[in-house]
Amino acid sequence: MKALIAAGGHATRLRPITLTINKHLIPLANKPMIFHAIEKIANAGISEIGININPGEIEIRQVVGNGSRWGVQITFIEQQGGPLGVAHIVKNAQSFLGEDDFVFYLGDNIILGSINSFVDKFRNERPNCMLALSKVRDPQRFGVPEMCDGRIVRVDEKPQAPKSNFAVTGIYIYDRNYFKAFEHIVPSGRGEYEISDIHTWLIQNGFNVGYQEITGWWKDTGKSEDLLEGNQLLLAEMTREEAVVEGEVDPEAIVHGRVKIGQGTVIKGRCLIRGPVTIGENCVIENSYIGPYTSLGNGVRVIGSEIEHSVVFDNVNIHCSKRVVDALIGKNVELASAAANMPVGHRLVIGDNSRVEL
Ligand code: G1P
Repeated sequence: MKALIAAGGHATRLRPITLTINKHLIPLANKPMIFHAIEKIANAGISEIGININPGEIEIRQVVGNGSRWGVQITFIEQQGGPLGVAHIVKNAQSFLGEDDFVFYLGDNIILGSINSFVDKFRNERPNCMLALSKVRDPQRFGVPEMCDGRIVRVDEKPQAPKSNFAVTGIYIYDRNYFKAFEHIVPSGRGEYEISDIHTWLIQNGFNVGYQEITGWWKDTGKSEDLLEGNQLLLAEMTREEAVVEGEVDPEAIVHGRVKIGQGTVIKGRCLIRGPVTIGENCVIENSYIGPYTSLGNGVRVIGSEIEHSVVFDNVNIHCSKRVVDALIGKNVELASAAANMPVGHRLVIGDNSRVEL
């Protein structure tokens, strides 16, 4: 079995963050989002992984490498012909996938736990396609299965009147009949080859489409709140063994719960760090509070300030004497104090599409 991860697209709704970083490289629990997908696939015993990328994409290639660090072999596949929909990503990878069964994983889907039982179920039951379903409050945003007597009878893409409260998540397994189905589908009203049309075609043409319900997953819709929630879920999964302290912690500082502290990081003065928290390498935390569900990248400085439930990228400098919550802060940002400003006021240098709550 092979695997294909979708890591293309432009994630315009996450600007300005995605102007300088591919969405799939955004760090969650201090690891690029796509690493979580690769780890789960490698953990399911799949060693040949294709990654669909935008034409000319270099950063993902550089950050991910050849896969040896996970004991897998990674092939990068550039999307040809522009963005033509999720179903077309697989078609675009046909020569890589060949005749093999494959897991198709949308790289912006974060799930908890492993995909092993899902893969095992496919291997044992041998359907032509296997879907991972999750109960959601807003099925109209997803592919939605219509169920009858415990079987899926069709799948509708983003229906206005959903036939169930399940979403088809972005983790699928197929056999080679995928490509037969692709020959019979046409672009939808939004000009895309819809993955849901593949599923409906397979069902209506006598192929076996199985499913497994998964719980505790998160779907990235491109909003910063979803990234914070994903970060929270992944930090909540951190084990005591993973919560290694490699940096230096001042005896005066209080560290509670699961807190991972990277090499070269110094926690100085009166600090309270309340896990789950992950702090990268070469950071300085001084007289500050770092609250639950916070990930700080490498080279971050937090001086005399408080931060909680936030994702902070590398080389950020926070010395604003305020409490920052629910924040997504890109590389090299500085949050400074306005206390000594003359005239009094908030001085801002903010890129396009940013959002600041004062
Ligand atoms: C895609 C699929 C949809 C699926 C969803 C899961 O939607 O088209 O069927 O439910 O992923 O993440 P998109 O994220 O492209 O809107």
